[in-house]
Amino acid sequence: MSTPSESAGRSPGLSPLLGENPVAVLEAAVWAMAAIVSAQRQALSEPLADVLARDPRRAAVLESVGLVRQGPDGYVVHPSLDQADSATARSAVEAKLASLRQAVSAASDETGAAEGGWGAQSDEVLLSQGRASTATGRALAGKVVPRLPGCAERLEAEGSRILDVGTGVGALALALAEGFPEARVEGIDVLERVLRLGRAELAAADPAVAARVSLRRGDAADVDEDEAYQLIWLPAPFLSEEALRAALPRLVAALAPGAWLVAGTNPAVDDALRRSVGQWTAVRGGGNAFDTARMSEELVALGLGEARTFPTVPGGPVLVAARRPAC
Ligand SMILES: C[S@@+](CC[C@H](N)C(=O)[O-])C[C@H]1O[C@@H](n2cnc3c(N)ncnc32)[C@H](O)[C@@H]1O
Repeated sequence: MSTPSESAGRSPGLSPLLGENPVAVLEAAVWAMAAIVSAQRQALSEPLADVLARDPRRAAVLESVGLVRQGPDGYVVHPSLDQADSATARSAVEAKLASLRQAVSAASDETGAAEGGWGAQSDEVLLSQGRASTATGRALAGKVVPRLPGCAERLEAEGSRILDVGTGVGALALALAEGFPEARVEGIDVLERVLRLGRAELAAADPAVAARVSLRRGDAADVDEDEAYQLIWLPAPFLSEEALRAALPRLVAALAPGAWLVAGTNPAVDDALRRSVGQWTAVRGGGNAFDTARMSEELVALGLGEARTFPTVPGGPVLVAARRPAC
């Protein structure tokens, strides 16, 4: 008679990519991720080719999965390892490191309980994850808003107001204030500790930009202003499903007529591993598992129109924008 684990070994559902010893392959994948993150972090201050050449064994790990290969003039790097401008690259690699740290924390958790959300993270993780959203703020200001009819014009008007929901350490709020020099950016967050970190970040930022950013404690579900904001940013995956359901109608009401709400969302993923990991980490971290399509539907059901989506990096978050009718 076969044991349960022998039966599992013959399971027709097991991915052929995982070979004869799937657990060992997945463990090696974690180390491959460590090789990627360590090489990319070092490449923030020197050329990636030099970083790879200095540790050929680590480079061989990346080569084994096709991320680098030896060319006649040195290493050739897969585009997915290419780093964008230095601020964006730093944010992106710090976010990957924070994700690895969270995986270690999940692995060492003996209770199987959820992490207690964002608030259970160390200051270091809050800062590194938060700073990673600088890139999102810049993309929002430079690439998304210019493609939302009427939005840039409204934000160019003196005294225009932007609401940054779940403002965290204020990185995205600062990027928006930098992108829209006439606007005031109001960040709200449920966590006092993250807001304290955010105030320190503001104090260290360009005073001309930071002066137009204010951070306050507040739950998105309790926003009670009507027709107040020209743009609202919502990092939807980070709110619990209960909070998100309560918040959406309040945020729609808080949009000025003709103004836009932009929500960060996670796209549906075909790959079962990535989809299930995404949903586990989202809910474990105090968030929800709504995907891009679901968020679009919710916004339209609440009366917003002109819904459209903006992919970021391949497989990464997708921004969903929808507009409150002008009258
Ligand atoms: C990804 S973090 C935001 C990072 C942020 N953009 C930054 O620059 O640091 C998501 C934030 O949403 C906050 N949050 C979660 N639920 C919330 C709610 N119901 N209302 C307001 N903020 C909430 C969390 O406390 C967390 O700080």
